[in-house]
Amino acid sequence: MTPKSKPIFALLGTFLAACASSGGPDSMPAPAAEATAEAPPAPAADPVPAVMASATFTDDQADLGRDLFRAQCTECHYSSEFSDSQFKFKWSRRSAGNLYNLIQSSMPETAPGSLTPDEAVAVVTYIMRMNGFEPGASELPADRAVLDGISLASIRGE
Ligand code: HEC
Repeated sequence: MTPKSKPIFALLGTFLAACASSGGPDSMPAPAAEATAEAPPAPAADPVPAVMASATFTDDQADLGRDLFRAQCTECHYSSEFSDSQFKFKWSRRSAGNLYNLIQSSMPETAPGSLTPDEAVAVVTYIMRMNGFEPGASELPADRAVLDGISLASIRGE
């Protein structure tokens, strides 16, 4: 559906996994290290921080997601459903974009599509925070390319 940009995905995924799993003994290869062996370091360094900066979310954003969740989702869900081992197992193989998509297109089950993109992202950040992602200084945008680049792999390790 949306065109994907692989290099950005790879970088984001690696960064976030490294960031969010404090102590997970990840046997993840470091593609950045390989790249620096041949590439000139200076020009390559620029785009990366910009992408990383846009891949954080704020505490306020996750709080908004929590409030939305309490108002619109607890009729059918406990928040604990979204951080239990079954949830972690399933979603650790997916991205924030996948979660956003599901919520935006099919939840709340009684009124699918009623959340605005910003509201759906806020709920995603609330779920991410419950699963050990650390809030940062900038909001997570309702941008599929950014969301698709955020691997949820690290939630497995909790
Ligand atoms: C009227 C009941 C109802 C409401 C309200 C509702 N949901 Fe759901 N939700 C469901 C059902 C039923 C499923 C399971 C659907 C399936 O498996 O096909 C589900 C599944 C989900 C899943 C997938 C869970 C998983 O383990 O993969 C997520 C995420 C989710 N809901 C989020 C939300 C959010 C966020 C809201 C509030 C904005 C919400 N739901 C409101 C009934 C509801």
